[in-house]
Amino acid sequence: MHSSSLKTQELNAQVQYRLIEELSASEQRYRELVERIREVVFRCDGDGKFLFLNPAWTALLGYSVPDSLNRRLVDFVVEEDRDTALHFTAEEPSEQESRDGVELRFRKSDGEWVWLLLAVQADTSGGRVGSLYDIDERKRAQQSLEELNSSLESRVQKRTAELAETNRKLGAEIEARKQIQENLLKAERLAVVGETSGRVAHEVLNPITSIFSRVEHNANNWKDFSLLLGNLREVIGDWREEHANATFAQYLANKNEDGVAYGDEDFELLDTILERQDVFQQEREADLRFIMKQLQRVIKIINNLRGAVRQNRTVEEISVIDPIDEAYEVMQDSLAKRNIRIVKDMAPNLPSILADENELIQVFTNLLRNAMQSIDEKRHRGGCIETVACVSGEMIEIRVRDNGTGIPKNDQDSIFNFDFSTKDRGEGTGMGLGISRRFVRENGGDMILESSEVGQGSTFLIQLPFAR
Ligand SMILES: Nc1ncnc2c1ncn2[C@@H]1O[C@H](COP(=O)(O)OP(=O)(O)OP(=O)(O)O)[C@@H](O)[C@H]1O
Ligand SMILES: [Mg+2]
Repeated sequence: MHSSSLKTQELNAQVQYRLIEELSASEQRYRELVERIREVVFRCDGDGKFLFLNPAWTALLGYSVPDSLNRRLVDFVVEEDRDTALHFTAEEPSEQESRDGVELRFRKSDGEWVWLLLAVQADTSGGRVGSLYDIDERKRAQQSLEELNSSLESRVQKRTAELAETNRKLGAEIEARKQIQENLLKAERLAVVGETSGRVAHEVLNPITSIFSRVEHNANNWKDFSLLLGNLREVIGDWREEHANATFAQYLANKNEDGVAYGDEDFELLDTILERQDVFQQEREADLRFIMKQLQRVIKIINNLRGAVRQNRTVEEISVIDPIDEAYEVMQDSLAKRNIRIVKDMAPNLPSILADENELIQVFTNLLRNAMQSIDEKRHRGGCIETVACVSGEMIEIRVRDNGTGIPKNDQDSIFNFDFSTKDRGEGTGMGLGISRRFVRENGGDMILESSEVGQGSTFLIQLPFAR
């Protein structure tokens, strides 16, 4: 053999050897890679039967590789996911599908299942190569998140429904309470009637009895007087007759059996009648004044009572200044006549209140009248009534202050009673403050005597809540 060709042969053999060496080293590297990799790498035929599986298959699902070869991939997939698995292994998935892969549940040898991501590609011999990637942890986390979300959602829905139900119940309860409160107010008003009706009957009976006796006295007086007028009529008849007969002068001079001239007798009768008429007239005037005063008192008592039991209240959003101004207007003439100084100090922008305006007008009128009467009683020249309104917390506070007599400590607890009065029978019924406080309370507020000093004056405080 030619030495050079020998050399070439040797060289070729060396190269071949090196190639084989390198090839087997590379195969070794790939096998190692395929055997150690955590993903399952597989090959299957056109029916989807496994031809090759790496050890990761056993690690992930627990089946031995030899037992699994020649079995279809779909047989390891849980029932529900089988159609999808079939589409990917035995049919023609699109390129996109192949690239993205599909999430499937695989049954493990212990009966449990795991989520794996299947990616496949067609190989040159009409089969498939592919991989299975463990996505179980992520899937389960995602699933429990979804469950959590949906349970959260259903909890939110449930809570919302519960809240709506609570709201509805609350609404009904508020309605029921309003009704109860309304009934309580009605009952309270009726209680006022009960509390006051006996007293009112008594109070009304007194003036009416005295009115009756004055009227009776007047009637008797009138009877006496009309007897005298009867006599006068007779005398005038005589005079007219004598005058017609031209014997009038003679008639006047004639004397009766007591020796008194007819003329003197008649003129005396006329004088008597005129005198009696004067007295009677004066008496009648006094009686009429008395009767009017008594009737005023009856009217006042009945008005008070009617106010206390008013059934048709109109509660509206109003400014507290309106009923105060209105009360001053009612009292204007009486206050002006007495030269009482009026001071009004209303804070600007007072919030409105929810109240029955007429009731509050009565309240402030009662307070102003009391203040005025106490200034009267003190015979005070520099009388002054001050009304101050301001905001305190959630309330409007109104103070009515006078520099009248003041109220003795002993009386201070009684002034709101329905039968307490220090005034003359004709002046006061004692119901004013009791009714006023009830009105203020019915409008959600309260009323107290804040301070009073004998000889100095008194301050009444009214608190009323804002309208919401
Ligand atoms: N501003 C005041 N100054 C002094 N005393 C007062 C004042 N306000 C009320 N009083 C006392 O309280 C009593 C009760 O007052 P209240 O208004 O209830 O009845 P009244 O004024 O006597 O009668 P009415 O109001 O029916 O005319 C009064 O009689 C008086 O003694
Ligand atoms: Mg009064």
